[in-house]
Parts: sequence; C-alpha cells; structure tokens
Amino acid sequence: MAIFLDSADMNEMCIYMQMGIIKGVTTNPTILRKAGIVGEFRDIEVNFRRMAEFVKPLPLSVEVTSNVPLEIITQAQMITEHATNINIKVPIHGPNCELENLEIIHRLETIHNIRVNVTAMMSDQQCFLPATAGATYISIFGCRVNNMGYNVCTEITKLRNVLEQEGLKSQIIVGSTREVLNVMEWLEAGAHIVTVSPDILKGMIVHPYTKETVQMFLHDATI
Ligand code: E4P
Repeated sequence: MAIFLDSADMNEMCIYMQMGIIKGVTTNPTILRKAGIVGEFRDIEVNFRRMAEFVKPLPLSVEVTSNVPLEIITQAQMITEHATNINIKVPIHGPNCELENLEIIHRLETIHNIRVNVTAMMSDQQCFLPATAGATYISIFGCRVNNMGYNVCTEITKLRNVLEQEGLKSQIIVGSTREVLNVMEWLEAGAHIVTVSPDILKGMIVHPYTKETVQMFLHDATI
C-alpha cells in the first residue's frame, strides 16, 4: 500500500519526499497546467525529464496529450526516453469513445516495454480490461465515482478480489481524492495506491486537537 503525490509542483514533491511518506508522483494535463507547465508537447517535455530526475527512483506518471493511436505511441516513447522511472498515462478510451486505446496500451506494455497507467476510469469493469491487457497501473477516479452516486469502495474491493483471483499484476491507483477520509477507506477497501494532492496530505498530518495539545505541552514545559 502506498500514497502517491498528485501534483507537478516540485517544491511540494520535495517536502513530502523528504518525509518519506510518498512512494510515487502522478500528473495529468490539468495538474501540469496548474503548475504552469503548458504549451506544445516539445516545449514542455523538458519538464518531464526534470521531474523524473528529481523524484528518481520513485515512479512518475505523465499523460499523453494526443488521441491519435500512433501519436500516443510516439509521445510515450519520447517521454520515457528521458527516464526509466516514467510511466505513461493513457485514458481507457478517447474523447468520443474511440476504442483503439486498449490496443495501444497492450502494445506499449508488451512490445515497447513501456509502463502504462491507464486513467480516467470510473468502474471496476473499465479497470479489469486494461489489467488483462497487461497495464502496470489502473487508475479509478474515486470521488468522481462517488459523485455519480456509487460507492467507489465497492468497485475497489471487487476489482482487487478479481485481480488476485486471476493473478493479474496491475496495481489499483485511486485518484480524485477530495477528502482526507477517502485515503484510509480506499486503502482498506483494497487500493494498492491512493494518489492525493498536497492539501489532502497536509490534512492527514495536521489536526486541531493535536495543535491544542502540543501548545499545552510546550506551554507547561516552559513555566
Ligand atoms: C490521478 O492522477 C488523477 O488524474 C487525478 O487524481 C484526477 O483528479 P480530478 O478528479 O480532481 O481531476
């Protein structure tokens, strides 16, 4: 079980890496934009090399920005040529429900020897298929599922049971973490990894009663 940092902010990576509490980093185009990393693919790929070097040997997920099958492979090769600890995020299907991505995922893992984090998934059914195709990571978007009225814990537990029953190597990453409460409940449900924003991580550490207690101890120690 592990916590990954869902951020492209290298200062935040540094803070939580030094604590020894994060075992990987995940990004997506929205997270990159939030960190000011925007532009043509060739202009921003230097950032991937820099982030990968910074977090090495921790795994770093970088998402492709094309929906054209052969371009996905080309981007994946360009991104991973920079570092051995980069895995490639590929959505389970295209923006218009194009189905080619699963074949690309299978080819990246089995022919190109590129580790894939299959992303933007909302159900155990969606996650099971790339697991059978050889995906290294399968990412389900926890609070997006909960916001649709389903309990993602049910999906996680069913998926974990079937992965173990079938002897599939994929690791379940649960993202879209919106509440501190999510982390332990999703790990308990069977997630291998929960990826969380820096704010959620800070929320896991800081508690108002701890603050009050530590202030009391320090006050009493000094009078
Ligand atoms: C994992 O890295 C996902 O891309 C991320 O957690 C999605 O979060 P969002 O639902 O806030 O976009």
